Amino acid sequence: MVQLLEENPLRVGLLQERTPEPLILVIFGASGDLTARKLVPAIYNLKQQRRLPPQLTIVGVARRDWSHDYFREQMRAGLENYGQGVGAEELWQDFADGLYYCSASMDDPKGYQKLNDLLSELDQKRGTRGNRVFYLAVSPQFFPEAIMQLGQAGMIKDPSKTRLVIEKPFGRDLASCQELNKVVQKVCDERQVYRIDHYLGKETVQNLLVLRFANAIFEPLWNRQYIDHIQITVAESVGVEDRAGYYETAGALRDMLQNHLMQLFCLTAMEPPSQMEADALRNEKVKVIQATRLADTKDLQNAAVRAQYAKGWMKGKEVVGYRQEPGVNPNSTTATYVAMKFFIDNWRWQGVPFYLRTGKRMPKKVSEIAIQFRDVPYLLFQSAASQVSPNILTLRIQPNEGVALRFEAKMPGTELRSRSVEMDFAYGKTFGVGGSDAYDRLLIDCMLGDQTLFTRADEVEAAWKLVTPALTLWDAPTDPELVPQYEAGTWGPQAADQLINRDGRQWRRL
Ligand code: BG6
Repeated sequence: MVQLLEENPLRVGLLQERTPEPLILVIFGASGDLTARKLVPAIYNLKQQRRLPPQLTIVGVARRDWSHDYFREQMRAGLENYGQGVGAEELWQDFADGLYYCSASMDDPKGYQKLNDLLSELDQKRGTRGNRVFYLAVSPQFFPEAIMQLGQAGMIKDPSKTRLVIEKPFGRDLASCQELNKVVQKVCDERQVYRIDHYLGKETVQNLLVLRFANAIFEPLWNRQYIDHIQITVAESVGVEDRAGYYETAGALRDMLQNHLMQLFCLTAMEPPSQMEADALRNEKVKVIQATRLADTKDLQNAAVRAQYAKGWMKGKEVVGYRQEPGVNPNSTTATYVAMKFFIDNWRWQGVPFYLRTGKRMPKKVSEIAIQFRDVPYLLFQSAASQVSPNILTLRIQPNEGVALRFEAKMPGTELRSRSVEMDFAYGKTFGVGGSDAYDRLLIDCMLGDQTLFTRADEVEAAWKLVTPALTLWDAPTDPELVPQYEAGTWGPQAADQLINRDGRQWRRL
């Protein structure tokens, strides 16, 4: 257990608390799940923490014919169902006074004109001074249209006053990502663009930066000389839920690995940035992805494995297989599990394998980065009773957020026997509170104009490029019989075990 010694107000951008300028947050897709589940609860949290200017105004945009009041009711229901409730009634009233709705369709220029008129009116009424954040919480096929229309209506012209937030997935392969980047670049400047990957908003993910760059003891060991390999796992117990329509077109590689796991990978492997500033950090992320390759591109099965969950048991309940889920094609070849092995061709990491895996319907929800150190060069304790395990530094992303270091200790007694023990830092215990929600952090950063935790155009492109060989292979028509299966409630297919066992290593048991 780690004790909190003294508060250290690190003088890095990460911990500064500023209040954004008055602005209007325009949410496209306001009648959708993301708005009620994540965005509005996050903004309400920020309001409760007094992080927002009193003028902050939200305009929801969607096709449905809702009134301002109906939108307010829906958002209140969202806070009650998915957030912490509304708390003090006056606070809610004050918040609700800043909620507006505009019914418009994504492809109708008149809708944008109507929206623009409403925004100008609200500037007068609420003192928002022409500052706007446009948040695209719509299905990805509408991104290009919405961006072009915003551009044509002249609504995102001014880089000092307008920003554009784009949800994932950003494209579905390298070509479509480049295409989308072109559309974006045609109408606005990269400084205005905030591509969201909510993993970057997680407290524990940001802690990776602090762990690596605010401590002297890790960096000297953070290289091929001391590290044997790194495992990054993002396991989920849920299945596809009610998202078959989207998931069938995505699969685990597009949905999780190319973005969320790639971010964890970058922050683990990148060089120290010269300063805690958006471009300095993003330059390092791009550099490390560009130096990375799949471990074997000639015989891809040595570097990439995909699979689909079959029926099985979760917590004593029988669950259906992926192909039997509502809305899923019974012959679907979409993968719900993917494991990959990468190498980074640079001085720090040459020869150190990075194993990444993610899947749905695994035995539990757990995400972690495990740094396994090399064996000791010579073992003094040769007695048979001595089983020396390698040191492992584990960064627990979720749940039970924290950091643990495994090392050997002598067991009490007259014999010289050792056992692996752990030093453990748990966020909850040490700080007494859990971290804030990822969306709270990302929304406030965007309102403040801080792009550090958002992905840049070249970064997403590099990440797509890296996984292209696997995408190409797996997108090709395949006999569904040939897609490996794993039983729901297990840790993935045999082929994934082989991927790592072949190297004399094993996946961690979580
Ligand atoms: C989303 C994916 O981006 O991340 C989902 O689309 C996944 O499929 C989710 O379940 C996982 O996020 P978290 O924060 O629960 O790990």
